[in-house]
Amino acid sequence: MEAQGTHKKKTILTIGFLGALAGLLFGLDTGVISGALQFIAADFSLSETMQERVVGALMLGAAGGAVLAGWLSYYIGRKYCLIIAAFLFIAGSLLCALTPNVEILVGARIVLGIALGIASYAAPLYLSEIAPEKIRGAMISLYQLLITIGILAAFVSDTLLSYWGAWRWMLGIVAIPAALLLLGVLVLPRSPRWLASKNRKEEAGQVLSRIRETREEVVRELEEIDNSLKIRQSGWRLFRENSNFRRSVGLGMLLQIMQQCTGINIVLYYAPKIIGMAGFTMVSQQMWGSVVVGLVNVLATFIAIGVVDRWGRRPTLISGSVIMAGSMALLGTVLSLNMANGMGAYIAVLAILVFIAGFAMSSGPLTWILCSEIQPLKGRDFGITVSTVTNWLANMFLAATFLTLISTLGAANTFWLYAVLNTAFIFVVFLIIPETKEISLEKIEANLMAGKKLRDIGQPRYR
Ligand code: BGC
Repeated sequence: MEAQGTHKKKTILTIGFLGALAGLLFGLDTGVISGALQFIAADFSLSETMQERVVGALMLGAAGGAVLAGWLSYYIGRKYCLIIAAFLFIAGSLLCALTPNVEILVGARIVLGIALGIASYAAPLYLSEIAPEKIRGAMISLYQLLITIGILAAFVSDTLLSYWGAWRWMLGIVAIPAALLLLGVLVLPRSPRWLASKNRKEEAGQVLSRIRETREEVVRELEEIDNSLKIRQSGWRLFRENSNFRRSVGLGMLLQIMQQCTGINIVLYYAPKIIGMAGFTMVSQQMWGSVVVGLVNVLATFIAIGVVDRWGRRPTLISGSVIMAGSMALLGTVLSLNMANGMGAYIAVLAILVFIAGFAMSSGPLTWILCSEIQPLKGRDFGITVSTVTNWLANMFLAATFLTLISTLGAANTFWLYAVLNTAFIFVVFLIIPETKEISLEKIEANLMAGKKLRDIGQPRYR
């Protein structure tokens, strides 16, 4: 009996790991461009606008992919969505590597983006549907952790390949983990919830008995799935008819816009460039600097995992915003005082590292956690699709404007702008974002639908 329990635990962990592999590709694909961009720009003689297009094409595809995934995952299920995503990851990476010109490169980045959009919708959904209740939060954090590990791996591989300026290899090598994802996903079971929603209850039961420890758990979960399926997903109708649901959809969008406006991806995509502006002019210094940025991103995610359920969401987010506002202001100051050499360069790099740590311990994982907690069951698919698409659109907008901002406002003022935004978020969190620690999703839903202020929807209802 015990041996069987251990075997099942192993099965669920393997399934969780394979599902989270999609997070790794998320990270690899977002991270890989930062080291490759300068070589691509030199090879194809790209203007700043074209460079922004190469970076932004991925997010454009991802926004489209996330919309597509909302619909696709309903019809063909989460597993086949991930299979399609893995295929597109392989095709997109190879096309990037072999591209004869920048136009095809932009097209290939859109294909990769579609894969990313599909995966960033389907993987967390799959994980939350397959994970036992007790470790659901941990599974979403595992997914975020793998995103950060993917970014780090991309930075390391870019750095090693930068000695040869081998940008085609940097982009092409991502096809290998993509192929692993494809092989892994092929053996994954289908989501029991999706099977049940398609009236394939027997198969749902068979999957559950592979991954739950006792017969009772299987029966209870099948019943729960049955009950929740009685509440039909009616996202768009609910959105038109119910102003309370519009509030939670708006809150999800706000959270994602705030996450992106911290400036995280600017720092990640343009890390070598920023480190260069700070006075480290050698390419190898810039590349190894980005590796350290990626490493801090991974390590600080562990802080979030440790404190989010103890401190709660609001204090963690506020602390993160204070750290991010302070470090962006420091970076702006160093650049505006023209201190970008000697000591100043080290302070600037330190500011970037502190900024990344502030993000990874707060807004990084918390945005995704909160977005999955605040939507009422009836409109959860719709609400999460809208917030995921918002993430990618905001991401694209910021990546596509960064270099232009730098050349019009100047580097120092650009970072000052991000410092102001992060300061504003301290107040937004304080005034609007709810504390959802240790509150059941049902209670959050009841509070929202009873018209409570957004900030209070995580409060126990009757006090
Ligand atoms: C964000 C991504 C970002 C990543 C960095 C995620 O939570 O949504 O845009 O690149 O964190 O670790």
